[in-house]
Amino acid sequence: MAKRALITGITGQDGSYMAELLLSKDYEVHGIIRRASTFNTQRLDHVYNDPHKPGARLFLHFGDLSSGEQLSNLIYNVEPNEIYHLGAQSHVRVSFDMPEYTGDTTALGTTRMLEAIRRSGIRTKFYQASSSEMFGSAPPPQNESTPFHPRSPYGAAKLYSYWMTVNYREGYGLFASNGILFNHESPRRGETFVTRKITRAVAHIVAGKQQDLYLGNLDAKRDWGYAPEYVEGMWRILQQEDASDFVLGTGEEHSVREFLEEAFSYAGLDWERYVKTDPKYLRPTEVDCLIADCARARHRLAWEPRITFTELVRIMVDADLEAAGLPAIGEGNKILASKFHSWHQWNSSVSPASQLVDGRVRVME
Ligand code: NAP
Ligand code: GDD
Repeated sequence: MAKRALITGITGQDGSYMAELLLSKDYEVHGIIRRASTFNTQRLDHVYNDPHKPGARLFLHFGDLSSGEQLSNLIYNVEPNEIYHLGAQSHVRVSFDMPEYTGDTTALGTTRMLEAIRRSGIRTKFYQASSSEMFGSAPPPQNESTPFHPRSPYGAAKLYSYWMTVNYREGYGLFASNGILFNHESPRRGETFVTRKITRAVAHIVAGKQQDLYLGNLDAKRDWGYAPEYVEGMWRILQQEDASDFVLGTGEEHSVREFLEEAFSYAGLDWERYVKTDPKYLRPTEVDCLIADCARARHRLAWEPRITFTELVRIMVDADLEAAGLPAIGEGNKILASKFHSWHQWNSSVSPASQLVDGRVRVME
């Protein structure tokens, strides 16, 4: 019988790739989405079929991490074999402006999920989307044994969720695992995260629609990988015999400045002509450097990222040029075709909003 999965945050970057990965593995996939007055399912539109038609395997349900009631109902009724808890207020800068809301969604939302599983009595595997942001100021490289020192309300909320996941594993015997993931990006990355903000600006500058790009700290260093490879890692974490915690990353560090150089020069532009500083993008406390030591994932999960930093930048710039109605330069698209072959049966970019048909994505009320 086909496995059933439940995904929180299915409308986000990772949730949409996870849905595609699981559908490609013949799962029945259920996702929780928030009620909004406008459609926010663009990242899923291309894999969605009318649930009334025979063979439909993707089902969407309204719910919110701020309310345990509906989460319990859904877990009880869907009876998933695997739960990927990816929903969160995931923006670090925003978490300084909305610390209480971030705690409610990103921290307590996890407890609501774990409690719902425990009370339902359903045997399921639970994946918690933990973050390298929990390492904060701990010196790199960081692995599963590195002491945590979060530097943002978001990082602190994720650390609470990390320990609640461990506690429900130890206290109640739940199969509950943390993936401690370093930054992973794609053409589906939210437009206010720095990588996408840059690649989108490159495309808009080439298209003549934008003159300046305002950024904050250019010295911060991150370990940036390609998101579809990371959802594959999440899936592998839940296929283990025993629940456990894993770091996933590339092991390579690059600064925001290097990302700028790479993205602008790929399009034949000099970034220094366009980039300006706006202090509003600075954080009260910054995480200076994150570099993954993912030896454990390499050995235990046989997980190894294939897309390099330069390749990631090219994939994203190509996709943003196409989204802006311009031809891609082409290297990024070639990399996807050559490195992924049939494994990468997923679309690499988001359907532009203008191509969406109202009502095509329907939610089970
Ligand atoms: P994302 O694109 O920001 O997606 C977040 C998802 O959470 C969206 O589907 C969002 O729904 C949903 N959500 C937010 N608040 C909610 C609420 N109150 N109730 C229900 N759903 C809610 O994030 P992502 O990049 O895919 O990341 C997935 C997860 O991994 C997040 O937990 C993130 O913190 C964590 N993580 C990400 C990275 C990374 O580099 N991407 C690294 C480590 C950990 P809407 O579409 O309605 O906003
Ligand atoms: N967003 C943003 N916008 N970041 C900027 C900007 C800007 O204009 N200018 C400089 N930066 C710097 C930030 O200060 C940070 O050091 C770095 O770029 C990366 O910022 P983000 O892309 O916002 O990502 P993040 O590292 O803070 O958080 C992401 O990765 C975490 C894993 O380490 C998010 O996806 C989190 O959800 C995730 O857990």
